[in-house]
Amino acid sequence: MRQKTPLVAFISNYTNNPGCGRDLRPVFQQLSRRFQIQRALYPGSWLDVTPSLFFPEVCYVDSLSGIVDSFADPDLRRHLNDNKHYPDAPTIHCYQHDYRTFNAEPEASFDLLISLNAGFISQACERFLPPEGLLLVNDEHYDARRAFVDPDYIIIAAFTGENLRMETSQAELTSFFHTTKGTPLTLEMVDSDAPRSPSRARFKPAKTAPVYLFRKQ
Ligand SMILES: C[S@@+](CC[C@H](N)C(=O)[O-])C[C@H]1O[C@@H](n2cnc3c(N)ncnc32)[C@H](O)[C@@H]1O
Repeated sequence: MRQKTPLVAFISNYTNNPGCGRDLRPVFQQLSRRFQIQRALYPGSWLDVTPSLFFPEVCYVDSLSGIVDSFADPDLRRHLNDNKHYPDAPTIHCYQHDYRTFNAEPEASFDLLISLNAGFISQACERFLPPEGLLLVNDEHYDARRAFVDPDYIIIAAFTGENLRMETSQAELTSFFHTTKGTPLTLEMVDSDAPRSPSRARFKPAKTAPVYLFRKQ
């Protein structure tokens, strides 16, 4: 069977169904409107170039062999250029590297860190965010709850509902990452669940959202 081209893989995985599964274009669009985001870092990105549709400079880091060639694919680059939502030409850096030891970009130099389905990036790559920097994170690999129990981060939004609307009301936000009994998750709970798949987690939050936004303190 022929392998999908990088562009076909991107479109079929990330742009076919806004608001469902992995199509997070509404989230990135709201972020680009609400915040000044010039530089974003996306460790464990695979071929998800969605951020480059909304932010002019994005750095992708993935340990997968061949990832640098995939990002250089002319059809993929043309697609980004034709569909981007900002005036400048996209600046894209792609590194084949383990994000835990990645050091090719300066620390504290990114406005946004993206962590989607690829491990505890909130911890391994926190050094790349300055104070006030933003972390966009989902909880499929427990990284959102890991950020919640980290005093370096504070939750400032959740993206909810079919349209992934940005919810910022403090009253709403305080109920995420609390158990059904209303107690907040702890680091011990997150650590003890980390080796389990999310469906087998012992400490399940009563209320969840597909994606969350934290600010580094
Ligand atoms: C499940 S995919 C998620 C891809 C994309 N973020 C998404 O949400 O669709 C996880 C990706 O993270 C990468 N990855 C996992 N651990 C990594 C590490 N320590 N350093 C770099 N890349 C890693 C894998 O190679 C893979 O491409």
